[in-house]
Amino acid sequence: MSFIENAVARKVLDSRGNQTIEVEILTESGYGMVAAPSGASTGEHEVQSFPKMGVDASVKIFEDEIVPQIIGMDSSEQRAIDTLLHQIDGTPNFSRIGGNLAVATSLSAARAAASAYGVPLYKYMGGALASDIPKPLGNVIGGGRHAIGGTDIQEFLVISMAKKTSDCVFGNAYTHKLVGQMLKKKLPGAAIGKGDEGAWVAALSNEDALSLQVEACDKASSELGFKVLPALDMAASEYFKKGKYVYKDKSFTPEKHVDFVASLVKEYGLHLVEDPMDQNDFKGYASLTEAVGKKCIIVGDDLFVTNKERLTTGIKKGAANAILIKPNQIGTLTDTYETVQLAKQNGYKTVISHRSGETTDDTIAHLGVAFGSYAIKCGAVGGERIAKLNELIRIEEDLEA
Ligand code: PGA
Ligand code: ZN
Repeated sequence: MSFIENAVARKVLDSRGNQTIEVEILTESGYGMVAAPSGASTGEHEVQSFPKMGVDASVKIFEDEIVPQIIGMDSSEQRAIDTLLHQIDGTPNFSRIGGNLAVATSLSAARAAASAYGVPLYKYMGGALASDIPKPLGNVIGGGRHAIGGTDIQEFLVISMAKKTSDCVFGNAYTHKLVGQMLKKKLPGAAIGKGDEGAWVAALSNEDALSLQVEACDKASSELGFKVLPALDMAASEYFKKGKYVYKDKSFTPEKHVDFVASLVKEYGLHLVEDPMDQNDFKGYASLTEAVGKKCIIVGDDLFVTNKERLTTGIKKGAANAILIKPNQIGTLTDTYETVQLAKQNGYKTVISHRSGETTDDTIAHLGVAFGSYAIKCGAVGGERIAKLNELIRIEEDLEA
């Protein structure tokens, strides 16, 4: 037991230069600090990140309403703390206090409790036997909402399949570097930049980007001695307009889009595809899962928004076989945990994930180990991305000691 003695919320910067919130919790013998991230291609069923009046309104609510009630609570009473956050908010989607305030408070309480017990967060939450580190999944080419002038598809990702986590981290970063070199060769003299998550941005068609990605994966695999596999986050809700999937050069009905994605999976040997269909198209997800779900991990992000009820619908309909886990989509650690449990009980893989607007907070690295997630999507390079990747390397070292 370690009772909360003080709690502070403040406005801080995220990697896009936007404002976000950070919460610190001090207990008799523990301390926790967590900052919340923000998305750009947010799902319409996510909780609301901040109240209408912005981050300042969240900070004020924290000081006026949360601090007086949270002080004196035991930091390890996670459910009680999360229930209190729901009660103070009083709305179904955290629109009054902000989901980002809820998640930063909830997670910093967990960090404070772990520190009071003198164990790392992954062990406090996952137990003494938690030892599986999720495989890092990082984007090498970006487009969509994360990059102006790039591909329609949001994220061209790679996943290194080495035994050691540190080899996977370096393998993904090396593949990212190879892609940069290949882009410079392919587009001489053209401006090549980086998007919100550190992936390369170039004026390429989706198919050209895929070919280049697969070529880089093959080259990295043969040089590194372990497989580096291609994956995509299509973020398809972003270009689903009036019943059709509209790309720069073509458009598809939902049925034809299932065939299109299935053909990409087969042609490019995709290991994982996230958000291949619109966020309300459970039926399309089910058809795609039926068609290629045996050889490809089909992940629902905007489809499920880390929400237990939406995942229940997906399970009933056979939509997807994996779920992206973003704690700030749902607002508390308890809600996140319950969704992860439901996924596990039903054979859905979990992929813990960063957001496009991040801070140097590394909490998701610990959650990924505690939850036994299959993968952790947190980019391949860049300060706020390597904060998570380097923490995975430290966790691996801790587990081997
Ligand atoms: P977001 O995108 O953080 O901008 O919502 C990430 C994703 O779609 O996975
Ligand atoms: Zn996504």
